[in-house]
Amino acid sequence: MYAFDIATDDKPSLYRDLCEAVDAITTDEPDAIANMANVAALLWQFLPDLNWAGFYRTVGEDELVLGPFQGKAACIRIPFGRGVCGAAAASGETQLVEDVHAFPGHIACDADSRSELVVPVLREGRVVAVIDLDSPSAARFDADDARGIEAIAALVAERL
Ligand code: SME
Repeated sequence: MYAFDIATDDKPSLYRDLCEAVDAITTDEPDAIANMANVAALLWQFLPDLNWAGFYRTVGEDELVLGPFQGKAACIRIPFGRGVCGAAAASGETQLVEDVHAFPGHIACDADSRSELVVPVLREGRVVAVIDLDSPSAARFDADDARGIEAIAALVAERL
């Protein structure tokens, strides 16, 4: 059993503890699916106000395919450049979207989603996956969330 002690009083402490938990649960484990599944579970358990948390993996040259996640069943294949996940994959840059209804091409997998944070996982300059977080609240994510998830993406990049 894993029991992680995660601070929730402020975001920097929350992400510091979350990073430590992600490190502990993925270190020494070479299986990418197991690692993505556990990271999705940790994000889901400890980040408040989410309706979806998980991974899309790059398959082939320019397509994302659904990976381990928590939340409702989601669209399976997303071409690079489409929607928020596709924008993160095509640009290699974090996408922080305060209102998904205002994002051109947003893919509505869950009608409850109002805001979204997508962070690319980069290995040797290549996007190998993205971490996608959705919230039913508008403007749920801020720069602290982006930095925190980017730290987690960097940590797991070699473990996926
Ligand atoms: N809304 C995303 C698609 C993935 S789901 O949110 C899980 C997008 O526009 O890329």
